[in-house]
Amino acid sequence: YPVESIRNFSIIAHVDHGKSTLADRLLEITGTISKTDCNKQVLDKLQVERERGITVKAQTASLFYSHEGINYLLNLIDTPGHVDFSYEVSRSLSACQGVILVVDANEGIQAQTVANFYLAFEAQLSIIPVINKIDLKNADPERVEKQIEKLFDIPTDECIRISAKQGTNVETVLQKVIEKIPPPRCNTADPLKALVFDSTFDHYRGVIANVALFGGEIAKGHKIMSAHTKKRYEVNEVGILTPNEQPTHKLYAGQVGYLIAGMKEVTEAQIGDTLFLYKQPVEPLPGFKSAKPMVFAGMYPVDQTEYNNLKSALERLTLNDSSVTVHRDSSLALGAGWRLGFLGLLHMEVFNQRLEQEYNMSVILTAPTVPYKAILSSAKLIKDRRAVQKDMLYIDENRVMLKYLFPLNEIVVDFYDALKSLSSGYASFDYEDAGYQSADLIKMDILLNGNPVEELATIIHSDKAYAAGKLLCERLKETIPRQLFEIAIQAAIGKKIIARETLKAYRKNVVAKCYGGDITRRMKLLKRQAEGKRLMRKIGNVEVPRDAFIRVLKRE
Ligand code: GTP
Repeated sequence: YPVESIRNFSIIAHVDHGKSTLADRLLEITGTISKTDCNKQVLDKLQVERERGITVKAQTASLFYSHEGINYLLNLIDTPGHVDFSYEVSRSLSACQGVILVVDANEGIQAQTVANFYLAFEAQLSIIPVINKIDLKNADPERVEKQIEKLFDIPTDECIRISAKQGTNVETVLQKVIEKIPPPRCNTADPLKALVFDSTFDHYRGVIANVALFGGEIAKGHKIMSAHTKKRYEVNEVGILTPNEQPTHKLYAGQVGYLIAGMKEVTEAQIGDTLFLYKQPVEPLPGFKSAKPMVFAGMYPVDQTEYNNLKSALERLTLNDSSVTVHRDSSLALGAGWRLGFLGLLHMEVFNQRLEQEYNMSVILTAPTVPYKAILSSAKLIKDRRAVQKDMLYIDENRVMLKYLFPLNEIVVDFYDALKSLSSGYASFDYEDAGYQSADLIKMDILLNGNPVEELATIIHSDKAYAAGKLLCERLKETIPRQLFEIAIQAAIGKKIIARETLKAYRKNVVAKCYGGDITRRMKLLKRQAEGKRLMRKIGNVEVPRDAFIRVLKRE
């Protein structure tokens, strides 16, 4: 395939507007998959993706299409739609020259439509606007065309009206891809320049790097080097993705495919890295911003004997999801574990679900928190900043786009759900990092008989400390079993106690009911008590069952 007959493109859309369905149709039309395959949403490979009906990880497929006597090679790079994964979108786009922008004919422009449009626009890609689901009863493509014109400055007659579900007009989309999206600008005669835009880990074959060739060619036996790590490799296999790996003799400039070169860890195939021939060094392509975790949570094995298994599961899963950050951590209550950073709450849930489904792990995940920078001053009294309105734009008479500056912890937990229910599901939401802001935050400690419980200390807005402290004390009172002495459960800010509950003394005699009779029953009960003790953590003189922490820490 000469470079002029190659097109590299992505489909971008708001969640549920029909990307995956359109991708399926394109794969069918081009014969990449057969129509009879009841194999819906071929690009959504993960179980969690099929179950939740969302795309988490970008996938790539090469399609072969003949138009007006010319054979074209179309490389389709799928992208996820949810806010949490916009990082995946931007790296997919770096391998493309154009995008299909899908908008639902009923819902119209939504938050991620806008966010994704700007990612493509800033990357100077050709944009093909497509209005999907015209088969729906209350579809209003005309209104959506007007929105697109108003917001993106794209003339209404450029929009293609389709039904991805029924296949209506999908062929027109393919023809527009060929007409409007330019072929990649590069040359096979140039030295090899391969951009790593994704990487996955295969247990048997090691790292599989997805690459876009911006120059030269690559084949088995070539000796290559990474611009980022300066490590050298010999290529074992190259090929295209259809969407499964299909080995080929070579990959040429302009193509998108995969390569395997004996890399043992995904960190060796860093996303955004440039690979070149060892003997022909080149100027590396501009890299990516690395993913920035926004939400942090502690992860611990339910049973400490599972620590090593969980460790290796985490290692393998993060090989396939390099946007998760992992740091070792330990807690008095929960034992050895990790502190993980995620792109957002859905990302965290999906990661947890993958651990359970793909690695059969059951874990304790602590309540998510957001990063803070603390400047320690004696008062710690810094000016408060709430949501500030930044911008407001009417998209049409029914829809308005609002921009606000929010403290991240306010939106991270249940903002999205609250917004959805408030607007009866009509509002959609997207966010980007606006940097650190000063706020009136304080550290709240929880004390058991005067001793602080490290894992229950929280950073919280001063307005909310009293209510939160009271709630935590009440919950602890319910979960900590009574002991031989009275226990004071307190919430404190510095030296000031803001809430208190008292747990009365109680003596539990496990053998009291046995009348000293049956010796085996007596032994059994004593053993059970000893086992129970093992699951206790001592905070000062107070014994707290691990369970109590889990119940207090876990999100509802
Ligand atoms: P993410 O992968 O989560 O970003 O979603 P997506 O944009 O890939 O959406 P998907 O293709 O999964 O479609 C979402 C829903 O819309 C599914 O239930 C589809 O069956 C439905 N759908 C997609 N295209 C059409 C269409 O043309 N008409 C109708 N009526 N429904 C459609």
